[in-house]
Amino acid sequence: MLAVPRLCLLLVTTAALGVAATPQSTALPDEDRNAYVITDSPYYLRGYDWWWHNFEAVQPETQERRSFFIQYLVMNPAGGGNSAPVFGQINATTRSGDRPSYARLAAGTWGEGKVQLFNYYPLSAFEASAETMQVSIGGSNTANETALKGSVSVTSDQANAHPEWLSDAGSITWDLTVEKVLTFSTGIAGALPLVKLAIAQMGWHVQGMQAKYSGTVTFNGATYIVDPETSYGYQDKNFGWDFTNPWYWISCNNFKNSPGSSLVVGGGQPVLFGIPQGKKVLVAFSHKGGELYKWNFADVPFGSPGDYIKQAIDVGPAGENIQWSISSEDPNYKIIVNMTCPKSQMLRLRYENPDGFVNHKQLWNGADLSGSVQLFSKAAGGNNQGSWSLIDTLVCERGAGEYGEYKLADSAAAGSSAAAADSATTAALPASAR
Ligand SMILES: *[C@@H]1O[C@H](CO)[C@@H](O)[C@H](O)[C@H]1NC(C)=O
Ligand SMILES: *[C@@H]1O[C@H](CO)[C@@H](O)[C@H](O)[C@H]1NC(C)=O
Ligand SMILES: *[C@@H]1O[C@H](CO)[C@@H](O)[C@H](O)[C@H]1NC(C)=O
Repeated sequence: MLAVPRLCLLLVTTAALGVAATPQSTALPDEDRNAYVITDSPYYLRGYDWWWHNFEAVQPETQERRSFFIQYLVMNPAGGGNSAPVFGQINATTRSGDRPSYARLAAGTWGEGKVQLFNYYPLSAFEASAETMQVSIGGSNTANETALKGSVSVTSDQANAHPEWLSDAGSITWDLTVEKVLTFSTGIAGALPLVKLAIAQMGWHVQGMQAKYSGTVTFNGATYIVDPETSYGYQDKNFGWDFTNPWYWISCNNFKNSPGSSLVVGGGQPVLFGIPQGKKVLVAFSHKGGELYKWNFADVPFGSPGDYIKQAIDVGPAGENIQWSISSEDPNYKIIVNMTCPKSQMLRLRYENPDGFVNHKQLWNGADLSGSVQLFSKAAGGNNQGSWSLIDTLVCERGAGEYGEYKLADSAAAGSSAAAADSATTAALPASAR
């Protein structure tokens, strides 16, 4: 726990910086947080860094609407996958104690014909900037704050021959421009000096809470048009040494009769310094493009009580659906989110962690969430002083969301060998990475 005093110092430093007047700049807010952030940190030895994009597109002949995701990822950049990817789901790899190490380009789509497609590259084919989002995998697959271009393709023979790829078969090609309209920054929790200390199991930054994509996507030969006004797009990034458990995420930019409204919810069980912090989510909501309301337990006013933000979280399978019921309130505002998505429309994403274990075997991820968002404010005076009054009820259509949860007992083998691998590999790592 030697890092604690340093953490306090950094919090103080960062808070002091936050008070200083922000210089005018043409840069996007906090765009440095959307860069390749795990360099010069213990995550570089044991960790991942990725950029996720999702949006809707329409097939012009049939008017079919389809949502897509695209993800650029690097796994264990110091793990030895320089000239060829090192895969986690091969027994020999796990036995020798090597961690997976590669760059991975992923794309997928939900609903009918849903697929998740993964192409792997050696680390030598990965380039990213530590200043802004500028990522390139294999030369021709690129992403920055204004454009994305790339292609993923896996044949069914390849998918069958390479279970360690964790991939379905298919092809997706994209050529897009993007405008980031709204950013949700996790505040002090995402301050880069803290990120570099790798105190969090999983970190998050939402550069494109609302992002307008434009261009084309081709899925198995069919071309879809992406229109900025109906792309209902989103972009975030995650990094860490493992994935949160449980894992919750919701994004909605498609509110009926409420243009400009935007919701994001993310979290699960934050783990700081190896200590689980209880179930929590970060919530941000913009009402009709106005003020961004935030419920961020890491960023409450100085000196406020531990229960400054009160939350109720009930997320999980409900029959044929995944259901998210979440409320979050601070002394001034309250939000109630109630969403549902049919499992049949969802993918179960296949993610291995930096130690090479697929602990999340039921990571439900979908883009057909529907439900409601209610925003309340607390009456400051009059007869109703102290009671909640409803500002608005909004209806979300085709939002995106995720839910995954595992008990270590569910995967006792994975759990115990993960622990064993952990103590073995921890001993081999420099002190800074433990
Ligand atoms: C790895 O080993 C386990 C246990 O010995 C075995 O069940 C599994 O099929 C092996 N997997 C591969 C990909 O060889
Ligand atoms: C992003 O990349 C495109 C080329 O793919 C380039 O035209 C554009 O200027 C880049 N934008 C930024 C912000 O670097
Ligand atoms: C949430 O939505 C479901 C249907 O999707 C409904 O059955 C349930 O009553 C709603 N819960 C609340 C608290 O509004």
